[in-house]
Amino acid sequence: MRKKVIAGNWKMNMLPNEAMAFIEGLAPLVKDAEAEVILCVPYTDLFYSLLTAQDTKIKIGAQNMHWEESGAYTGEVSGKMLKSIGVEYVIIGHSERRQYFNENDETVNKKVKAAFDNELNPIVCVGETLEQRESGKAEEIITTQTKLALEGLSDEQVKNTIIAYEPIWAIGTGKTATADDANNAIKAIRNEIAKNYGQNIANEVIIQYGGSVKASNAKELFNTTDIDGGLVGGASLKVEEFAKIVNYNA
Ligand code: 13P
Repeated sequence: MRKKVIAGNWKMNMLPNEAMAFIEGLAPLVKDAEAEVILCVPYTDLFYSLLTAQDTKIKIGAQNMHWEESGAYTGEVSGKMLKSIGVEYVIIGHSERRQYFNENDETVNKKVKAAFDNELNPIVCVGETLEQRESGKAEEIITTQTKLALEGLSDEQVKNTIIAYEPIWAIGTGKTATADDANNAIKAIRNEIAKNYGQNIANEVIIQYGGSVKASNAKELFNTTDIDGGLVGGASLKVEEFAKIVNYNA
């Protein structure tokens, strides 16, 4: 049985003092949760968050990384740097990075490989735009993004990749995919993995849903056959709300 993994993506929000207060508040509320809990925080919060989250259930992730280990890449942070301070997870290829920072399937694949080279667990985002959905291309887009993101990985690495299906039209809009639609999209992603790596491996891959997840819809979304938790934006900025999402069955 796959475990549920609930990750918050703070995006460009939260100062270090706010991050520390958030984690101190969240830790007791999620200490008995069945789901795994991750907070993906801005670079400037990483060190403070790692210290505050020590000895709690909360794991800390970054929101991006460069694929090179070091070099003349002003403003970039490498996987090796993240690993050196104790970061365990990293979001790769979020739609906001694909849209505003020219990330594409090729750079996503390089970053996923570099994450594994540095013993970081990648959370790889895939998802279609509204236009692609309305023209019937959603499944083709998300399965192609999945295939290209995982290209060249070992079976073991594929098994340890977390995929987040985030339909772009549902991000920050208050519009959530229905549990059925999200579950079907995630099944299509799992089938694509099965096609390339076999059903046994596909059955082990954690595939999350993201896009306007909140306390009021988490239970329905996460009690489906294929949705293995969520990648949560706005609702991960409020302690009580995020704790309710983590404890979605309580
Ligand atoms: P919202 O939960 O704010 O819609 O954001 C989703 C997201 O982009 C998480 O990565």
